[in-house]
Amino acid sequence: KDLFPLRYLLRLERFAEPFQKLLTIAAQAAAERGWHLYLVGGAVRDLLLADPSEPVALSDIDLVVDGFHQAATVGAGVELARSLQTLYPQARLEIHGKFQTAALLWHNDTELDSLWIDIATARTEFYPYPAANPEVEASSIRQDLYRRDFTVNALALRLTNPRSSELLDFFGGVLDLRSRQIRVLHANSFIEDPTRIYRAVRFAVRLGFVLEPQTEGYIRHAIDSGVYEQRDRIVPALQTRLKSELKYILQAPYWRAAIRKLADLDALTCIHPMLKLDAALWRQMRLADWLQRCDMTIPHWQILLEVLIAKIDDRANVAQALQLPADAIKRLANLAEIERQLEQLPHCEKTSQMVQLLKLFSSETLILVAVRSSRTIRRLIWTYFSRWSLVKAPIDGTDLKALGYKPGKQFKQMLDDLLAATLDGEISDRAQAEAFLHKRYPLT
Ligand code: CTP
Repeated sequence: KDLFPLRYLLRLERFAEPFQKLLTIAAQAAAERGWHLYLVGGAVRDLLLADPSEPVALSDIDLVVDGFHQAATVGAGVELARSLQTLYPQARLEIHGKFQTAALLWHNDTELDSLWIDIATARTEFYPYPAANPEVEASSIRQDLYRRDFTVNALALRLTNPRSSELLDFFGGVLDLRSRQIRVLHANSFIEDPTRIYRAVRFAVRLGFVLEPQTEGYIRHAIDSGVYEQRDRIVPALQTRLKSELKYILQAPYWRAAIRKLADLDALTCIHPMLKLDAALWRQMRLADWLQRCDMTIPHWQILLEVLIAKIDDRANVAQALQLPADAIKRLANLAEIERQLEQLPHCEKTSQMVQLLKLFSSETLILVAVRSSRTIRRLIWTYFSRWSLVKAPIDGTDLKALGYKPGKQFKQMLDDLLAATLDGEISDRAQAEAFLHKRYPLT
């Protein structure tokens, strides 16, 4: 599908009225201070890719301030955000001191809905060493765009006059949008920020693009050179970014294609040098995707990530480094012992005994064990989710009182016995339940 003429695609009128108004007001506020204002990143990319007959929705906008008549100092973005907030008092202002960026956040606004605007001053980033957190200083819009990940994300639309609506495309982003390719701006990009490996795959799969061959070569080179393997160098902030990329990918509808591509690039080694997607692990992930529907309260991405991590011997440390929740770290640390306990399932004589054992574990734990274990155990866990966990005894606590039993400690035992008898098929209706009770717990 070819792109429409750029002039047509880049009209701000393609955004809904309240967004156009907001961008116009922001541009005026910048111009009054002698600055230029640019719309950059994903919003410009999506404006060029979106169906021209549909209005373009915005939920996340990146704006960059650059000097024009006046040099823009590091605090320019923050100043602009403050002035916008006086006009939109319903927006929350957040300032991130270190990089001097500001964010304005609207939540369920009547006009702007939920909108997040980041406003930054044009800046350059330096990486003191590979995979470190970048250091920042104020600079020009060209330099600001050059520090970005891919050509299709390094486009800027000028919002201020003169030459408003002009597209800044220093690195061939439009050509790459036309030929549907993800291309980095420089050879060291993945060495400096290895999370970009995951971002490249995510954008390629999401947009239906391919990785430009040289870019794919840079990825393979970064992985071969062990960019993630110098574990002592891996700052916690990088692990946080890796986790959020993994989360982004694993919760997306396209997670399968993305994981396959990452595996093809050998990029799962970024999680752990020994991690490979073999046929068994791939099957486990697809099973987990299916099984998690038994309990929709479990975060889907986390279960898939735990299945990946469970494959590694050093799983507890990997989970800890990726800052997974404490219960997930504990589950992965104790997995071998949990699996040993659940291997007893087929040896239980009665259904109630199996349920008693299964009840000791959370749904997350059972899913993790189910996908990794034999068909017999998986079937028992599945039956627990789909049938046994839904079984109720024909009599509840209120009924016990009505039958003349006095509330007390024994109630729980009585209810447990009733449930066990129901599970084991010894009772199935109220009359049988009452007879069972009278026999086992005679009323004095
Ligand atoms: N960026 C980058 N390197 C990263 C993360 C982000 O260069 N590791 C840059 C990209 O230019 C990106 C911009 O920061 O366009 C904003 O990041 P993000 O919001 O994650 O990306 P979007 O392009 O807005 O993507 P999405 O549509 O998924 O929100």
